[in-house]
Amino acid sequence: MKQANIRNFSIIAHIDHGKSTLADRIMEQTHTVSERDTKAQLLDDMEVEQAHGITVKSRTVRNHYEADDGQTYEYNFIDTPGHVDFSYEVSKSLAASDGAVLLVDATQGVQAQTVANLRLAKQNHLVIIPVINKVDSDAADVPRTEAQIQKLDSSFENLDMLKISAKTGMGVHEVLEAIRTTIPAPTGDKHAPLKALVFDYMYDAFKGIIAYVRLIDGSIKADDDLLLMAKQTKVSANSLGYFAPNMTPIDELNAGDVGYVVTGLKDPQLVRVGDTMTSVTNTTKQPLAGYEPAKSMVFAGFYPKDNNYNELKLAIEKLSLNDSSFHYTLENSEALGAGFRCGFLGMLHLQIIRERLQDEYGLEVLTTAPNVTYHVYLNGKTEPMIVNNPINFPEFSKISYVEEPFVKAEITTPNDLLSEVMKLAEKHKSTLLDMDNQADLIVLTYKMPTSEVAYEFFNQLKSVSHGYATLDTTALDYEVADLVKVEVDINYATVDALSFVVHRQDADKLTQELVKKLKVAVPRRLYPTPVQAVVEGKAVARVDIPPLRKGATSGGKKGAAKKQALLHRQGVNKRKSAKNTSDLPQEVFNAVLELD
Ligand code: GTP
Repeated sequence: MKQANIRNFSIIAHIDHGKSTLADRIMEQTHTVSERDTKAQLLDDMEVEQAHGITVKSRTVRNHYEADDGQTYEYNFIDTPGHVDFSYEVSKSLAASDGAVLLVDATQGVQAQTVANLRLAKQNHLVIIPVINKVDSDAADVPRTEAQIQKLDSSFENLDMLKISAKTGMGVHEVLEAIRTTIPAPTGDKHAPLKALVFDYMYDAFKGIIAYVRLIDGSIKADDDLLLMAKQTKVSANSLGYFAPNMTPIDELNAGDVGYVVTGLKDPQLVRVGDTMTSVTNTTKQPLAGYEPAKSMVFAGFYPKDNNYNELKLAIEKLSLNDSSFHYTLENSEALGAGFRCGFLGMLHLQIIRERLQDEYGLEVLTTAPNVTYHVYLNGKTEPMIVNNPINFPEFSKISYVEEPFVKAEITTPNDLLSEVMKLAEKHKSTLLDMDNQADLIVLTYKMPTSEVAYEFFNQLKSVSHGYATLDTTALDYEVADLVKVEVDINYATVDALSFVVHRQDADKLTQELVKKLKVAVPRRLYPTPVQAVVEGKAVARVDIPPLRKGATSGGKKGAAKKQALLHRQGVNKRKSAKNTSDLPQEVFNAVLELD
C-alpha cells in the first residue's frame, strides 16, 4: 500500500462511551470481519475484559477501506482502554498514531477521562475528530454534548460535528470518510535505515515474544537481523504481519505501517516497551524518544498458594512483559515464604492482574494488603529509606519521621451531586485546591494522600455519584505524615505478611474493625486462638477465636486448654514470628484488604 493511502489512528473516549462498539462496526463496514463472525465485542477477547466489560489491553487492527473517492485505504486503528488505571496504555497507543477519533457519549456528555485523553492526544500532536455517539438512545442530549465539546478546544468551535450510533452503525461511514480526509498519511522514508517504535509486546507460549511496531522509516522483511536499541538486544524477524483482527502474516512491513514482528525471544528481561527497533546492518543514528516508564501507585505482595512458586514466577514475568505498567521484585515473608512485591497503577489494575493469573495461567495467589511507597527517615539520617513493603517498615523507636506521597485529584461531577462528592473527599483527608466549571460539570481539584485515593476511593466515588463522577490523578510530592505500622499476632506469633501502615488517627477504628473480621476469617484450631493487633509494641485490639466445637477433637477440652496454656507461656516468653501460617486462607488477608 502506498503511504498516501495509509491512516494510523486511535479511538479515545471516557470509559463505556462506546470505543469497542465503534471498533466492531468499523471492522464490519470494512469487511475485516464478516457480520456472521461478529460476536459481541470482537476486540475485548481477554477473559477478564469480557467479565468486567472493559478493554484492558490495546489492540491494533488493519482494515482495508474502499473509500468514496474510489480508492482503497489501509486503516490501522488502535483500540485503547478507558479506565484511569490504564491511561498509560492510552499514551502508548497515541504515540503510534497520527490522529484520534474522540468519542463522546451523548447520554453522558464530556467526562473527566474525555478531557484527560484529549490532553494526551494533543501532547502527541494528533489530529482530532470529535464524534458524538449513542444518538439513538432516548437519554441522548445531542445539543448539550455538542456545546460541551465545542468548549473543549477552540478548533472545535465551528465544527459540524459527526453524530453517530456505534450500536446501529448509523453515521459510521461518515466517520470513516472523515478519517480519510482529516488525518494525515504517514510521511516516513521507506529507503532510510529502519526506525520502528515498539509500542507493545505480547508473549506467546509457542512463538515467544511478539513486538507490536509502528514503522517510522525503513522496512522489515522476514529473517532480517534486528536490533532493539534500549538493551542492544539482537533478534531475527522469524515472521511478521498485521492483525485483522487475527495475526495475518505478510512478507514486508514498510514505513508508515503498523504490525507485529515475531522475535522468538523468550526472555522478557531483554525487551522494553517504547524501545526503538532498527536493523543490525543499517542502524539508525537517532533512536526514538520512547516513553516515560509507568509509575506504580499501589504495591501488594503476591504469594503462591499451592507451592507453585516457579510457575507463578514465570507467569508474572510474562504478564509484566505484556503489561509494561505492572512491575515486580522478589520478596520474602517469614509467614508465607518466597513471593513477589508487585506494583500497580491502582486497585483495579491489581484486581485485573490477579484475575489474569487465574484465567490465563490457572494460578491462584495470596494477596497482601496494598500500600504506597513511604519515605522513612531514621534517627540521625538525612537520606530516607524507601519502603514499599510494610514488612520492611522499621521499628518505631528508630524512626525520626515519615513522609507519604500525595496526589492532585481532579474530580469531575454533575452539579447536583456536588455536596455528596465533597463530603466523601473530606472523609479522605483532602484539601480543596480549586473548583471550576467545565461544560456543565464541576471540576474539583484536591490534594490528597495517595493512600487515600489508591484503595477504595474510586469505588466509593462511583457509588455516591451513581457512576457519574470521574477521577483523574497526578502525582505530587512527598509530605510529612503521622503514620504507624499495624502488626497482627495470631496465637502470639506475628504474621508479617498481614502488617500494614496507616495514619495514626485511623489506627484505633481500623484495628477494632480488623480483629472483628479476623474472628470470622481465621480458621479455628483445637485450642482457643488469640488474635491481636499491635501498634508500636502495644496490643490495641484483641479477639479470642473459640476452639473447634467440643467433640470435634479427640483430645477434648482439657487437652486443648493445656496446649493453649503452653503456647501462651511460650508466647509470653518470646513474641515470635509465625512460620507455619501458610495455611492461612485468602479470607484472612482480605480482612486487611477490605478495611474501610
Ligand atoms: P471501555 O472499553 O470499558 O472503555 O468501554 P468502551 O468505550 O469500549 O464501550 P463499549 O463499546 O464497551 O460500550 C459500552 C456500552 O455502551 C455497551 O453496553 C454498548 O452496547 C453501549 N453502546 C455503545 N455504543 C452505543 C450506541 O451507539 N448506542 C447505544 N444505545 N448504546 C451504545
